[in-house]
Amino acid sequence: MRKKIAAANWKMNLTLQQGEQLLTDILLKPHDLKAHQQALFAVPFPYLPMAVNKLAGKNNVFVAAQNCSNKKSGAYTGEVSVEILQSVGIEYVVLGHSERREYFNESNQLLAEKLDICLANNMKPIFCCGEPLAIREANTQNEFVAKQLAESLYHLSAAQLQEIVIAYEPIWAIGTGKTATSAQAQEIHAFIRAELAAKYGAAIADSISILYGGSVKASNAVELFSQPDVDGGLVGGASLIVDEFVAIINALP
Ligand code: PGA
Repeated sequence: MRKKIAAANWKMNLTLQQGEQLLTDILLKPHDLKAHQQALFAVPFPYLPMAVNKLAGKNNVFVAAQNCSNKKSGAYTGEVSVEILQSVGIEYVVLGHSERREYFNESNQLLAEKLDICLANNMKPIFCCGEPLAIREANTQNEFVAKQLAESLYHLSAAQLQEIVIAYEPIWAIGTGKTATSAQAQEIHAFIRAELAAKYGAAIADSISILYGGSVKASNAVELFSQPDVDGGLVGGASLIVDEFVAIINALP
């Protein structure tokens, strides 16, 4: 069975103290992650050791970075490498979030390099893709997402691809309160899986978790996650609210 994942993306929010309190409060609420379910917290870089310590020993709960460098090490002021992340106990990293693509000019090619350095070093990427509003309005989202997949992923081996989690996040639904309908999410998730199947075969494509992101909240998580090709969510705003995120974890099938 594919992994079902509720991933929190704190983005550039909360102080260290607020973040620690949020994790404390979430841990106090009842949630029961089964063997095929995971909760993941993508927190700002300085909070990674706090989150690793706080969540140590919790089954199926992981901490992720929100980005990493495409370079191994060296004179890259302000950058954080895979090795640095691993030295503080991190196994997952979010790559290619639309905010990184839009505000920090991350291209499909750069993301291919970041994926390479992660996969060469056993760091598991959560690779984000998804189209802006104009593309959705022109009804060319499939072509747009297919190009993102092709240019960033298709040089990878099947074994490498299986280390990746994909997050489909339509940019028009991120932080806007506007969610893709569960039918829209299912349609493009099935398209992504079919593209992966065409390239890598159905068995590999079936094993990849594809998360939906874009205004996921407690009130829509069950419906979204019940779609056959939606394997959980990457959650921004609602991951900062204890009851919301706990309900989203509990909505995992
Ligand atoms: P949102 O953000 O849930 O606030 O829309 C999702 C994301 O950007 O990962």
